[in-house]
Amino acid sequence: MGSGETSTQRIPPFISLGSARAMAAPSTSFESALMRTNSVANAAVSRETLIGGNDNVIDSIDDSSPIARQLAHETRRRERLVGRELPKPEKTRIFTVSNQKGGVGKTTTTVNIAAALASAGLNVLVIDIDPQGNASTALGIEHHADVDSIYDVLINDLPLGDVVAPCPDIPNLICAPATIHLAGAEIELVSLVAREQRLRRAIDVYSKERAKNGEGRLDFIFIDCPPSLGLLTVNAFCAASEVLIPIQCEYYALEGLSQLLKNIEMIQKHLNAELVVSTILLTMYDGRTNLAAQVASEVRQHFPNQVLGAVVPRSVRISEAPSYQQTVMTYDPSSSGALSYMEAAAEIAER
Ligand SMILES: Nc1ncnc2c1ncn2[C@@H]1O[C@H](COP(=O)(O)OP(=O)(O)O)[C@@H](O)[C@H]1O
Ligand SMILES: [Mg+2]
Repeated sequence: MGSGETSTQRIPPFISLGSARAMAAPSTSFESALMRTNSVANAAVSRETLIGGNDNVIDSIDDSSPIARQLAHETRRRERLVGRELPKPEKTRIFTVSNQKGGVGKTTTTVNIAAALASAGLNVLVIDIDPQGNASTALGIEHHADVDSIYDVLINDLPLGDVVAPCPDIPNLICAPATIHLAGAEIELVSLVAREQRLRRAIDVYSKERAKNGEGRLDFIFIDCPPSLGLLTVNAFCAASEVLIPIQCEYYALEGLSQLLKNIEMIQKHLNAELVVSTILLTMYDGRTNLAAQVASEVRQHFPNQVLGAVVPRSVRISEAPSYQQTVMTYDPSSSGALSYMEAAAEIAER
């Protein structure tokens, strides 16, 4: 898989954040994102067709051009997603997105998978329990110190429903933000009753509350964890039924994974027997290096049933999106990064 971008919807870096938000048209469904993307890709491919004088757009591409090859490949992948309706799960699926390493793509994976599923019409809640509040930022949710947040839910028993806010760009997507107060929560939790189960209880109460109010049942909840295995992460493990582990395709990827798996085993034994590592997503894949391919194949050998077929490439558009308070799904739906996250989301929903 190449790491280059075939995006055409570019936002100049010099424009203000406000105008960037206005320019990046929010997509309301897989369909609308894909249709726009397809017309863009097809327009580019058609030029090749004209030169080749062949009616078959994809087959006519000159294979000696890597960019054309990649474009054709992405067009085929997009076509596979068009019209694909994602099933609603029988009950709310709760994922904790975890890896005690920092910078491996937990937050990026959380917000983009959540955005992709919501864009396909599913009801999705993101719970940000990382004091850095990166998921809240990427989803355009206010999270300054005065905002009621997941801190108040965990420590002050505020109902979860009182802190969730809608993501401004994506219908069906809501988020419980994290504020800086959460930085002290690890210590504050220690002395509280049922300290490991506080998030789980808050989610249970909120789900019942939604049903009582006639609000749609949540299809997916994603909990974005901090890069540690402290009480915040333990709360996420106790609340979830599935673990999603993003793995960066770099040399040290597998180091530390055994520690994470040991911790999950402990949680299974003592606190949450339901918990399973259901999903592993390979991220920041750089197709130009042998190393990325080696790491990917090693992870697939160890976890054949968990690793998703979709692989997220290293992509400038993915890393730019948060600075515009966006996911890549709205910032640049035509990018290869957005496509990969849509594929990953579809696989998760269909599992
Ligand atoms: N596929 C990707 N391509 C390029 N940059 C990425 C990609 N995924 C994540 N990043 C960037 O890498 C950094 C770490 O990602 P992040 O999701 O915040 O990791 P974590 O939550 O595990 O600490 C961020 O700056 C993010 O924008
Ligand atoms: Mg993070």
